[in-house]
Amino acid sequence: MDALIVHGGKPLSGEITISGAKNAVLPILAATMLHGDEYCLHNCPDIADVRLAAAIIRCLGGRVTRRGNTLLVDTRLAVGTVIPADLMGKMRASVLFLGALLARFGEASMTMPGGCPLGRRPIDLHLDALARMGASVVLWEGEICCEAPALHGATIELQFPSVGATENVLLASMGCKGTVVLQNAAKEPEIADLAHFLQAMGGEISGIGTDTLTIRGGAPLSGATYTVMPDRIEAATFLCACAGCGGEICLHGADGRHLTPVLDVLTGAGCELCWSRKCITLRAQGRRKAPPAIETAPYPGFPTDVQAPMMAALLRMEGSCRFSETIFERRFAHVPQLRRFGAEIETEGSAALVRGVASLRPATVTGTDLRGAAALVIAALQAPGVSTIYGIKHLRRGYDNLEGKLRALGVTLSEADGGVGKNTTGNFPCHGV
Ligand code: UD1
Repeated sequence: MDALIVHGGKPLSGEITISGAKNAVLPILAATMLHGDEYCLHNCPDIADVRLAAAIIRCLGGRVTRRGNTLLVDTRLAVGTVIPADLMGKMRASVLFLGALLARFGEASMTMPGGCPLGRRPIDLHLDALARMGASVVLWEGEICCEAPALHGATIELQFPSVGATENVLLASMGCKGTVVLQNAAKEPEIADLAHFLQAMGGEISGIGTDTLTIRGGAPLSGATYTVMPDRIEAATFLCACAGCGGEICLHGADGRHLTPVLDVLTGAGCELCWSRKCITLRAQGRRKAPPAIETAPYPGFPTDVQAPMMAALLRMEGSCRFSETIFERRFAHVPQLRRFGAEIETEGSAALVRGVASLRPATVTGTDLRGAAALVIAALQAPGVSTIYGIKHLRRGYDNLEGKLRALGVTLSEADGGVGKNTTGNFPCHGV
């Protein structure tokens, strides 16, 4: 099934429970390779990226079993250090196994990681930091070979607070002799979640939640039981959907503390919000007001992952709003697709100006990345009539049971085979252009 058929034009109404965070469970799964033992991870979303991380652990010799939302991981017999290209190429977060394998075995080989096409996505910050801890790194025709018979302590300052580089340093530090001080570390809540999991394993980490992490390497590690934090980006996506469509929804399990800049924009756009650590409710009536300009930034700034969903939420606002994307080079692939719904958006470099229109029309569109595809669903929900969204394999990477949750909010939708609607050249027809 490769297309979603959405019947749009109705307000959303109802309650759903937000799943565990994709960007937290992936580094936590990599962390289970740090020490051969048994792990019990609650609140793990059933999404393609998690299945891929499980496939990597199995390929390295470990076992992963799902029981509902719980993953049971056994890495006692996992002694592999080579990750093949077919597993590396599908997901950026596969590179997080590098730090974990280096810490445990002193070596790791893999190809460059894949992931959403958002522009250049180098891993120089990861590799530079590991080299500062004593790893020798060879990059050759897309292959990464790392060796570190004895990782040592270091003071490392990241040039940019990269989420992945911060996580790789945290993981590698568990196996070093000495103390690692990581400055200008990323402060995303998912990094704190990884650090808390590492503490549950026995790791000694201080400065969690700040931009300076201090890790005393070599602490004895053990298996652990842990509950993964809720997915703030999934929660933001549903909030944006309701802001765009109108209605009233309640997101159980969502932690409002992690979404302050998103909630501020939604409030500025005229939504009524009520939130706590365990729940967020949103009510929206009529058209959105134009909020102040939105600029993406590392946490605690406005998340780049919510840029596309928020743009879709504001397509019918009264007035206009400027978006600036500062994290990724090419993160406006959804814009030409949103225009098919009748949206008025101009882009120039890393900025996009959205002029609100009175109404959207249904369209046939194709998502090319995870959050961009979510933005297309949000636009389709607002357009009275039937829209078709191709490329939903991207949605499967990051949204657990998206269709079921949308149905619980009153949406009528169905899945269709990828062949439906294709013309003979294999290109997709452009209804509603
Ligand atoms: C993580 C998230 C992703 C989110 C992003 C930014 C996961 C699995 N993914 O991705 O959803 O959009 O954070 O919040 O957690 N960079 C370099 N060199 C490096 C590393 C990064 O130049 O070695 C650049 C990247 O190209 C990008 C920027 O830094 O422009 C941010 O990347 P980073 O914070 O590392 O994001 P990811 O960990 O890939």
